[in-house]
Amino acid sequence: MKGIKIIKKQANDVRVILLSNKQLCTKYKVRNDKDYVYLPLITDYDEGLIEKIRKEYPIEVNDYDYKQAQYRPTNFMDYLTDKIDEEKIEDIRKSFDIIGDIVILEIPDELEEYKKVIGQAALKFTKRRSVYRKKSKVQGVMRTRELEYLAGIDDLETIHKEYSLRFKLNPSTVYYSPRLATERSRIVKQVHDNEVIIDFFAGIGSFTVSIAHVKNVTAYNIDINPEAIRYAQENIKLNKLVGKVIPILGDVRDVADTLEDADRIIMNLPGTSKDFLPLAVSKLKSGGILNYYEFASCEDVVIKHVKEANENYDVEIMDIRKVKSQSPGVWHYGVDAKIIK
Ligand SMILES: C[S@@+](CC[C@H](N)C(=O)[O-])C[C@H]1O[C@@H](n2cnc3c(N)ncnc32)[C@H](O)[C@@H]1O
Repeated sequence: MKGIKIIKKQANDVRVILLSNKQLCTKYKVRNDKDYVYLPLITDYDEGLIEKIRKEYPIEVNDYDYKQAQYRPTNFMDYLTDKIDEEKIEDIRKSFDIIGDIVILEIPDELEEYKKVIGQAALKFTKRRSVYRKKSKVQGVMRTRELEYLAGIDDLETIHKEYSLRFKLNPSTVYYSPRLATERSRIVKQVHDNEVIIDFFAGIGSFTVSIAHVKNVTAYNIDINPEAIRYAQENIKLNKLVGKVIPILGDVRDVADTLEDADRIIMNLPGTSKDFLPLAVSKLKSGGILNYYEFASCEDVVIKHVKEANENYDVEIMDIRKVKSQSPGVWHYGVDAKIIK
């Protein structure tokens, strides 16, 4: 079956990316020899993701032999068959987000009567501490989501491990997406020592702390949500940083002008970040980088917005990519743009 061959030193990074994107086939055992690890892929693996991994890691994708993992009910369905239609169980499984000890899943209204059974099944299947159901979309200025308790211990505070970092958070009071881990690691790799960074919509410090963990930067972590700033303060202490993260509570429109100009501005508020582009451009040094995110159906629209905000300057679009799917036909785009003033 198809698998990824990767040198041992980097195998865990790739394993985590595959696992968090549900691309590792857990029915088979990971194999290794003296120098390499062979990670089995699911049958309909995501070629786009593999290409992204290939850009960062020296992988080979080929047919390898794997032994079957010992049988245990690894399949969420095994806990629910006879109760719910297989297709619906698969939809629920695909909706899983695991944040620290907490599983967050989607249950359609027509399965309301089974919600506790599904919660118990998810608890057993994932062996986590607590299971919650998404009760709303990510909404409001603070981009939070209502959650309904289903199973396990009813405690929403958790510590999530992302690569070698730890993020403390409550997923009902602050925004955090484990699905952006690969994107964060991409940005971390772009940053140079001594950069001044302003993260306009920084939340619990997911970008700033990740960067300052390995790069000697000054990163301003602005957020309008007091809970996000409280967790950012905790996350600065929880992780060993070589750089400095400065948490600032407030609306970026009130705060940005009190700060020094930046070499890099991060703008992950994809629904409305375009409205903040003129402010970001005004705070960027010549030659500075915008790491800009926007929901759109095609990349041209996103590039147009970045260029329009910089009509008096030269804009070099260094990269544009689909970070993740937002809804059918709409993507969470990420752009890296250099602005020459
Ligand atoms: C989508 S979240 C991104 C958080 C973080 N950057 C991440 O990627 O995990 C957007 C964040 O922007 C914050 N926010 C929204 N409007 C803001 C504003 N005008 N000024 C500062 N922060 C704002 C929200 O509270 C929220 O934490």
